[in-house]
Amino acid sequence: MVDNNMKQIAAEHAVKYVQDGMKIGLGTGSTAYFAIMKIGELVQSGLRIQAVATSKASERLAIEQGIPLSPIEQVRRLDMTIDGADELDGQLRLIKGGGGALLREKITAFHSERLVIVADESKSVSRLGAFPLPVEIIPFAYEWTVEALIELGCSVRIRRAEGGGSYFTDNGNLIADCQFELMDEPEEIAARLSRIPGVVEHGLFVGMADQAIIGCHDGTVRMVQARERSGKIVFDS
Ligand code: A5P
Repeated sequence: MVDNNMKQIAAEHAVKYVQDGMKIGLGTGSTAYFAIMKIGELVQSGLRIQAVATSKASERLAIEQGIPLSPIEQVRRLDMTIDGADELDGQLRLIKGGGGALLREKITAFHSERLVIVADESKSVSRLGAFPLPVEIIPFAYEWTVEALIELGCSVRIRRAEGGGSYFTDNGNLIADCQFELMDEPEEIAARLSRIPGVVEHGLFVGMADQAIIGCHDGTVRMVQARERSGKIVFDS
């Protein structure tokens, strides 16, 4: 089974949780694409939801599919966001931002009751870090910000746009793709990144995802679920 089929199976499985009247966050990327398409299909058959998009690309796709988008100020909290990931581990820690939308994705996830991650099985790893960590940085004095990132022990590449020149996010910022060693303590790296002025946000999502739905080669889905047990979060798969 090719990656796209695994992505579609995972995304469409997640859409089964979408119910009438919900407020839904629409993720970004090639896996979230399938979720948006399926939600669009359901809306055309009568499903009533309100949605918020995590990028201009997903907003355009939602409009094309007839999914009603709500202005942020009219939505207090989202019931669920369905989004992709570049890597996820067994504790539902994620690297996101391969598509450059990590800031809006993180804001949207933070204001959602549930963050459901959809991915093909190639994204599931035992340790994060093979995928370069996207970090959104302010263009002003970005060279200084890059120096500070390098001091954390990674190598840094400023992302380039496909047609040449710097890549700019939907928020007018740059993306520094940071290649660390495989991470023992993603939480520690996340905390250190957040202390650097000029870093707007980073693509480590720790303690945010509630569930992952992973599309597998054999056509099945594997679930990883965060549950609270005796005051602790445990992860069932
Ligand atoms: C977008 O910025 C990202 O966080 C995506 O969610 C992530 O890159 C996964 O994208 P794919 O589903 O295209 O692999």
